[in-house]
Amino acid sequence: MSEAHGTGANGPIVVLTGAGISKESGLDTFRDKGGIWEKVSIEEVATPEAFQANPERVQQFYNDRRRQLTQDRPEPNAGHTALARLAREWPGEVLVVTQNIDDLHERAGQDNLIHMHGELRKARCTDCAAVVAWDDDLAPATGCPHCDTGTLRPHVVWFGEMPFQMERIFDALQRCGLFISVGTSGSVYPAAGFVQEVLRGGRARTVELNLEPSDGSVLFHESRHGPASEVVPAFVDDLLAGRIEL
Ligand code: APR
Repeated sequence: MSEAHGTGANGPIVVLTGAGISKESGLDTFRDKGGIWEKVSIEEVATPEAFQANPERVQQFYNDRRRQLTQDRPEPNAGHTALARLAREWPGEVLVVTQNIDDLHERAGQDNLIHMHGELRKARCTDCAAVVAWDDDLAPATGCPHCDTGTLRPHVVWFGEMPFQMERIFDALQRCGLFISVGTSGSVYPAAGFVQEVLRGGRARTVELNLEPSDGSVLFHESRHGPASEVVPAFVDDLLAGRIEL
């Protein structure tokens, strides 16, 4: 492993994941055929304006998805568990940045993890900004358990809002020696721009593991196309066996 690539002790592997890694666990993607945005529009349920105009509708959209997570209990698949294995067995840091708001990475044992678009099983107070674990339905009048004056919204990043922990993410992208993109269409920024940020550093290898070429496929040194439950474990095996030239 060449230190020059910084993938030894001094440079992390950064993995970006999207809805595709959770598809085989039974959770819908957004832009595939039959995806979430084919059934409901972003403007109706995933913007601050939508929440202002019709809070019941927005809360119901996330209540339905939260129930799917807490009642149907989808299981992490081999893609999630392979990334958790990589973090355990790799000699340097592995940071997973997920666009997903499900908890499948955690349940697979991933701990160095950033939910840049928030988390479905958390709620945030519109007054004091306290974030609380929340598995029940939310209604517009659901009160904040911390400040008693505010009401709770989904702790999810809507279109037009700033994703979480961007400074920490960009720091890792600039230091990383290997960037892996899994199960994302590469169509929503800032996540879609992460690969360019890595390439700007000029020394990291970029790899796409996706069912089919994403919008940014040409920007990756290597692409492996297939279901995450197959291509992610296979890539992790190759990486840990030293079969990937970094
Ligand atoms: N294995 C691997 N990849 C898959 C699989 C699978 N089994 N099934 C689908 N995919 C791929 C699709 O080919 C597609 O490229 O996953 C990608 C899913 O793309 P999107 O539905 O656009 O989801 P994502 O990229 O995560 O969306 C980004 O957009 O709407 C917002 O906040 C939302 O976080 C989401 C963001």
